[in-house]
Amino acid sequence: MKKIQIINGPNLNLLGRREPGIYGARSFEDYLEELRQQYPDVQLSYYQSNHEGDLIDCIHSCGFEVDGIVLNAGAYTHTSVALHDALRAVPAPAVEVHISNVHTREEFRHRSLISAACRGVICGFGLDSYRLAVEALSRCS
Ligand code: DQA
Repeated sequence: MKKIQIINGPNLNLLGRREPGIYGARSFEDYLEELRQQYPDVQLSYYQSNHEGDLIDCIHSCGFEVDGIVLNAGAYTHTSVALHDALRAVPAPAVEVHISNVHTREEFRHRSLISAACRGVICGFGLDSYRLAVEALSRCS
């Protein structure tokens, strides 16, 4: 059974209530149940934190154990060299995910400091971006 760790960064605990016009009206916990049903053969673990160091600790602790990491680093995507380095430090391949299409938004969202440390990037498909990332990682060798 493949193991995939989903990690959500700052403000993503408010999904469903935060700017629903951009991020939708559904909580992540609710969506995760559906995702687990869609992938009964994948062990999906979930972690969320608003703190950069906690996200790094999570990457360190899961990155040697799991087959892949799905990371929505939220705003840290655009600022964090430390998350880039953490992803490079572990063997698990990571997929960078965004709910919104960051390239159609403010210019400061166009740059990602973590993309170069990831196997791939998926953005703009709403919560389905996570499923696409799980699908991609479940096919990764
Ligand atoms: C986001 C996009 C980021 O720019 C923003 O800071 C987020 C969410 C997304 O999923 O679309 O918090 O990562």
